[in-house]
Amino acid sequence: GRVAVLMGGRSAEREISLRSGQAVLHALREQAVDAHGVDVAADIAQQLLTGRFDRAFIVLHGRGGEDGEIQGLLRSLGIPFTGSDISAAVLSMNKRLSKYVWLQQGLPTPNFERIVADTDPEQLVEKLGLPLVIKPVNEGSSIGMSKVNNVADLQDAIAEAARFDADLIAEQWVDGAEYTVSILANEALPVIRLQTPREFYDFEAKYQANTTEYLCPCGLDAQAEVECKRLALQAFSALGMEGWGRVDVMRHHNGQFYLLEANSVPGMTDHSLVPMAAKAAGLDFGALCLSILQTTLE
Ligand code: DAL
Ligand code: MG
Repeated sequence: GRVAVLMGGRSAEREISLRSGQAVLHALREQAVDAHGVDVAADIAQQLLTGRFDRAFIVLHGRGGEDGEIQGLLRSLGIPFTGSDISAAVLSMNKRLSKYVWLQQGLPTPNFERIVADTDPEQLVEKLGLPLVIKPVNEGSSIGMSKVNNVADLQDAIAEAARFDADLIAEQWVDGAEYTVSILANEALPVIRLQTPREFYDFEAKYQANTTEYLCPCGLDAQAEVECKRLALQAFSALGMEGWGRVDVMRHHNGQFYLLEANSVPGMTDHSLVPMAAKAAGLDFGALCLSILQTTLE
């Protein structure tokens, strides 16, 4: 049938989504899928109806695409789509709600505080220590995030994050290494370790810097990699996520893993992590796209 590859949208990650979307569109066509690119705008309902699509491959990142909005529209129109359903998209897009769910399930995630109008910087630092990380709750690609090393820098970090979202958190910094677990057909692919000389794996390290190193095999011993994958799968299913996605974690120097966040529509650009992990598992980009298409929720 006809497949709509939904990309673009109006989130801060629009440009990344267009890159992901073009890559997926191209790969599906190469696999002889009747795929059509759709840049998602206000007329999306009309585009989906007049296009007579049989299913949708969602490659939208961020708000409007990963947060349940497009999933709700597709449900209303009766068009099956890839990846997580409405409620899992809502929960995974929202870093604060994700953490509440994980804590309730006894899964480890760094300590955090919601930032409200009368949050006192001194008290925040007393509770979480330094460094800490300021994050917009509903963003991706590290947009609006800052690592804060001194209390004097806190207000600027909060103001920067507030440009992107009214809902903000401060999260304890985990001193260690960052890993990511890609999930396909509800199974974990090989773990990747991210290494950057920058303060953290930020937007520039993700998409622009050539100093970022991706280690796969990730260097963990077999038992630790199994533990990392198991935690990621628990985090994924705790949020009700389905099909495919990616869970980002930190491993403290003491060996303890902490969940940072889950992505229901992770990046699919040529620099992205899910394609890298799939390749390590013997699945090229075309096969990966087909496999994701098969996870379509009816
Ligand atoms: N939010 C970006 C696209 C990612 O997680 O890969
Ligand atoms: Mg994300």
